[in-house]
Amino acid sequence: MTFTEKYAAEIEGIIARFPHKKSAVLPLMHLAQHYYGYMSDDAMREVAAILDLDPTHILSLAGFYTLYYEEPVGKYVLEICNDLACALRGADQFVEMACNKLEVGVDETTADGLFTIKTVMCLAACDRAPMLQCNLKFEEHLDEAKFDALLARLREQAAAETIETSVVEKITAYAKSGNQVSVIGNR
Ligand code: FES
Repeated sequence: MTFTEKYAAEIEGIIARFPHKKSAVLPLMHLAQHYYGYMSDDAMREVAAILDLDPTHILSLAGFYTLYYEEPVGKYVLEICNDLACALRGADQFVEMACNKLEVGVDETTADGLFTIKTVMCLAACDRAPMLQCNLKFEEHLDEAKFDALLARLREQAAAETIETSVVEKITAYAKSGNQVSVIGNR
């Protein structure tokens, strides 16, 4: 089953929220990525076909926005902000600690396929630095103890095969609200 077939109703609902269907490109890319795990060639081709866009347009968006992954990633993507405000609150040391703890480098995935570490630019939570975003959810005021607790919670979730909040629900909510920060940031 393709992404287009599985999410036919959601795709139709998202497109209906916009005056021009091409404007639905970002939420549809999120949905395609959720299905394929990353913006694979198939994901890009399908989204392009749905919206009558050239696949190279999807490729350029995937390369521009950090929330789209051009390579396979782990079940949980730990996107650690190391922009100025977070750097001033120890983000670089936090990244080093996280990489050492998970025995991976930045842009690498743990051998069990659970975690990928990435560094990202400001996520607009500077007053809660250092912080990271994991699968569209902010984790703030971080230190090593909180990071340990986060890893333990995510490992528990993965073992139980539960997802704390439906990614699909978030994507469709985003399309309805038009307010990316309140939904994607999960404040
Ligand atoms: S600099 Fe990290 S959230 Fe703004």
